[in-house]
Amino acid sequence: MAQLDSVLACLDLNLDRSVERLFELMRLKSISTDPDYAGECRKTAEWLAGDLSAIGFSARVADSAGHPMVIAHHAGPSGVAGRVPHVLFYGHYDVQPVDPIELWDTEPFSPALKTMPDGTRRIVGRGSADDKGQLMTFVEACRAYIAETGSLPCRVTIFLEGEEESGSPSLLPFLDAHREELSADVALICDTNMWDRDTPAISTGLRGLVGEEVVVRAADKDLHSGYFGGAAANPIRILSKIIGDLHDADGRVTLPGFYDGVEELPDDVRTIWDELGFDEAAFLGQVGLSVPAGERGRTVLEQVWARPTAEVNGIEGGYTGKGFKTVIAAEAFAKISFRLVFSQDPARIRESFRAFVRERLPADCSVEFHEHGGSPAIQLPFDSAVLRTAREALSDEWPKPAVMIGMGGSIPVVGEFKRRLGMGSLLVGFGLGDDRIHSPNEKYELSSYAKGQRSWARILDAIGRDGVA
Ligand code: BES
Repeated sequence: MAQLDSVLACLDLNLDRSVERLFELMRLKSISTDPDYAGECRKTAEWLAGDLSAIGFSARVADSAGHPMVIAHHAGPSGVAGRVPHVLFYGHYDVQPVDPIELWDTEPFSPALKTMPDGTRRIVGRGSADDKGQLMTFVEACRAYIAETGSLPCRVTIFLEGEEESGSPSLLPFLDAHREELSADVALICDTNMWDRDTPAISTGLRGLVGEEVVVRAADKDLHSGYFGGAAANPIRILSKIIGDLHDADGRVTLPGFYDGVEELPDDVRTIWDELGFDEAAFLGQVGLSVPAGERGRTVLEQVWARPTAEVNGIEGGYTGKGFKTVIAAEAFAKISFRLVFSQDPARIRESFRAFVRERLPADCSVEFHEHGGSPAIQLPFDSAVLRTAREALSDEWPKPAVMIGMGGSIPVVGEFKRRLGMGSLLVGFGLGDDRIHSPNEKYELSSYAKGQRSWARILDAIGRDGVA
């Protein structure tokens, strides 16, 4: 215990410096989806490998088909009897694009600490919460542990990727090629949320994702909408009709076979979720909404944690500049994503969507599809030794005991860790619902950063003591 106390004290003492380090990391513009930022992604991987080497990991940048990965190893304590538990920490250093840039109050890649009227402090900037701040909570915990004790309480491998926000396209072959090196007893992942600012959470599920870009074309050039209007097929109208057809009046997705494999929420899970006391009005109210817009007859928590969706993430075509132009565009395109739940098959959903579009395509029109990632949903056990260990450690740190929650977002690697490496995952994160991840003015509470570091120190310490099995 004395050892853990000194690690926690070291974290508290060095908080300002840990914020400075996070700022350095956040200044790197690691937008993975935009090829213009490939150099910045590599610099970010190099920065991380350098930082991990500096604290005693054997770290390197490992090339992949896309943006590079970072792999770092620490053997943990030496001279102890028996097998040392081995954890793999996964995080991602890439971030989402910053647009619409005009809605940011500060420069997205010039991180700052902001004090709010209620006295709380927050780190603002792209990547503060998703996922640079979160991954650094773990790195800082390791730094302090090594500084205070000369080692870590268990064997630790750190694996950071730079393509999570683009659906992790290079990950699968990379995992296969590095199976030995990346296999551990359990994966620890810090890319999810707390329940509220006082209540830590372990996420037991993530939705899957299918991303599709669809381009509809008609005439071989843009047309005068008076000269041709009435006679010419209009790709924008055609595409919007197809998108409109994706949902019925009850908010259900109309793709054939879409709900195959979708199960009703088990009663015991419903009970756990009911006990959380979720406030639907507050959840919607925080973003200026009041009426749940998903499937009729489902609670909001069900809609975001346990039901699949189809969403249009972007749509473009024709003249969108200033003023007005009477034109029938030659093409229109949309970016559409499906969030999946257990046990929908991403490949089948993609095929069903493509067939749905093709069937609705009138004469003279053509369609092109581009794939943007596909990963199944994952469901983790509600009870396991490592989950109990983490739950206790988190409850020791925060004002309220840890709870178990679902999570509507996706982290593609989690399912692959299980499938390819046979490794379970523990999802512990310190984000909050109002962190504005993927939006302008992304932030991470300083309390998340500080207590997140302390939480990992406690979890590592407990795993070192109790193991994971
Ligand atoms: N950190 C998020 C996942 C998440 C979202 C956790 C919301 C908690 C609340 C993760 O980095 C993310 O954004 N993932 C993408 C993956 C996609 C592009 C394949 C997502 O969910 O959109």
